[in-house]
Amino acid sequence: MKALILSGGTGSRLRPITYTFAKQLIPIANKPILFYGLESIIKCGIKDIYIIVGDTEKEIKSAVGNGDRWAANITYIKQEAPLGLAHAVLISENYIKDSKFIMYLGDNVIKSGVEKLVEDFAKSKDIDCEILLNRVKNPQQFGVAEFKGDKVVRLVEKPKKPVTDYALVGVYMFNKKIFEAVKNIKPSSRNELEITDAIQYLIDKGYNVKPHVITGWWKDTGKLEDLLEANRIFLEEIDCEIDKRVKIINSTIDGKVKIDFSVENNDVEIINSTIRGPVIIGKGSKIINSYIGPFTSIYHNCYIENTELEHSIVLKNVKIVGVKRITDSLFGNNVELLETNKKPKAIRVMVGDSSRIEL
Ligand code: G1P
Repeated sequence: MKALILSGGTGSRLRPITYTFAKQLIPIANKPILFYGLESIIKCGIKDIYIIVGDTEKEIKSAVGNGDRWAANITYIKQEAPLGLAHAVLISENYIKDSKFIMYLGDNVIKSGVEKLVEDFAKSKDIDCEILLNRVKNPQQFGVAEFKGDKVVRLVEKPKKPVTDYALVGVYMFNKKIFEAVKNIKPSSRNELEITDAIQYLIDKGYNVKPHVITGWWKDTGKLEDLLEANRIFLEEIDCEIDKRVKIINSTIDGKVKIDFSVENNDVEIINSTIRGPVIIGKGSKIINSYIGPFTSIYHNCYIENTELEHSIVLKNVKIVGVKRITDSLFGNNVELLETNKKPKAIRVMVGDSSRIEL
């Protein structure tokens, strides 16, 4: 089996973060979203991995590299415009050739991994495509499957009136018949070649499309609420890990707290603070006179002083001083949120396009 990971999307629902940053690289429990899928593919023993990239090609390549660190071969395929998931399959044919493959959307996270599914699909002789389904509360936002008995007869992309609540998870397994399908479908009303239409083609041609309902936790991390939920789920899994050299002065650390430590990157300092896990703190960050509450991920080189912060994701080089109290928030790289004594006492902002602030 080979793998095709799609990492070209623009992340329009996560602006302004995604104006300057690939959504698949936003960290969940301090690990880029994309790495969850990538590592679960690597766990399946798959070595040949192709990553579809778009405008954020440079960032994705520099974060992921050529696969050496996982002993895998990673090749990048440039999608010149966001023309749809089935278009991504179309431009991958020369790389994937006759092999069976798993297609994984880079912003999807499946907690239980995909090893067993990949193993069964690799062995199967008569399944042309396997789709993963999960029951959701908001099927309008996904591709939705309709059944006759236990067979899928129809897939509808983001239906206004969904007939079922079975959403297509962003993980699919195909054999080479999918290349015939993507060459025979037409762009949808949003001018994209839809993967749902390609799978519908397989169904209509009588090829064997097997549905598999997953019951474990899955998320398409398109929105802030989804990122915070994914962050919660993965922080619950962390182990308590604090290097002896981390400077902790006059502070209380409760519950599971993981602190990344690196000698070269200035160690983490926690001074006069309370950290109540699960919390993860990245290399070189400083927490002073502050409270960091449950389900918070703070990435590298952040500075937090006189602040109360919980249930939030904080990216790199963020400075927050004198703010009580922050919750349910996402801070992009290099953001500053500071209390000031300047008169008049007022709010002063320099906020990027499409930001959201609740006061
Ligand atoms: C895509 C697919 C959709 C699927 C979803 C899963 O939607 O088109 O069928 O349910 O991924 O994440 P998108 O997130 O690109 O809107």
